[in-house]
Amino acid sequence: MSTPTPVVIDTDPGIDDALAIVLALASPELDVRALTTVGGNTGLANTTENALRLLHLCGRDDIPVAAGADVPLVRRDSRADASTHGADGFGGVVLDPAPRAADPRGAVQLLVDVVEASAAPVTLIALGPLTNVAALVAARPDVAARLERLVLMGGGARVLGNMTPAAEFNIWFDPEAAARVVAAGVPITMVGLDVTHQALTAPGDWAGLRASGGRVARAVLGMVDYYTEYHRARLGIDSTAQHDSLAVAVAIRPDLVATRAVHVDVEYVGTLTRGMTVVDLDGVGGLPPTADVALEVDAAAFNALLTSRITELDGSLR
Ligand code: BDR
Ligand code: CA
Repeated sequence: MSTPTPVVIDTDPGIDDALAIVLALASPELDVRALTTVGGNTGLANTTENALRLLHLCGRDDIPVAAGADVPLVRRDSRADASTHGADGFGGVVLDPAPRAADPRGAVQLLVDVVEASAAPVTLIALGPLTNVAALVAARPDVAARLERLVLMGGGARVLGNMTPAAEFNIWFDPEAAARVVAAGVPITMVGLDVTHQALTAPGDWAGLRASGGRVARAVLGMVDYYTEYHRARLGIDSTAQHDSLAVAVAIRPDLVATRAVHVDVEYVGTLTRGMTVVDLDGVGGLPPTADVALEVDAAAFNALLTSRITELDGSLR
């Protein structure tokens, strides 16, 4: 096996964030050097506490966690619908407290320190609103330029919105930040709704993991059950999109998705389209590509990777 890729995960846990983080911890292809937290699915105090508790559950109290932005750069009144991930962010699943507090350096400084200390270029995986990433780009463009790649869950090219008809949640929450990030010149893989809505997980997909009975499986399946119930009540469907896990899966196995290099902008002015990713799939604007946008996914391979890796992690904790 080749050397693991050093990664930092910027995240707002969040149910699908939790599964994504567990997938990263369970995967030998990745070396998780830090988690940085952002307000999004729930407030920053919850997302930070959730990140610490999740790492504790997985026996990884060695990975630093630092808190970043609680509110967006400009649109300070962005709020999640608390019922999506529950008021606590974990759908009411209570994990044991971690024996430590967040790293006092804060998210941007921790990112800077990790990138500067790493011999190999770091991949940043962003699973929430892009406020912290925009702050990094503004404060230390030299450090942002050293990133290997930014793999972000957000936006959409053909499937535009889950928060509004035109906007996906992470981009909608802080569109000014997203606009700055996509214009920053960092190589980007955008894992948006086009692929996360193709990679739905149905209750049967979790059967093997459920049977395994490990402590991580029990925790994340409690969250998945909450998320499934929400989807059933709201949308009348049983299946859930594991948005953030797919972004981590793409960092592990880029071949899981087919991408196209295209120019991406973020709309942050429009009254109906604020937070929309404007993806020039046909190159009509004539501008150079700014992101590799994922358009197709091998959903079966993704589901198998997600559930088998979590099962293996639990096995190693016994
Ligand atoms: C994204 O929004 C959040 O609710 C999820 O955690 C994911 O990052 C999906 O639109
Ligand atoms: Ca998220």
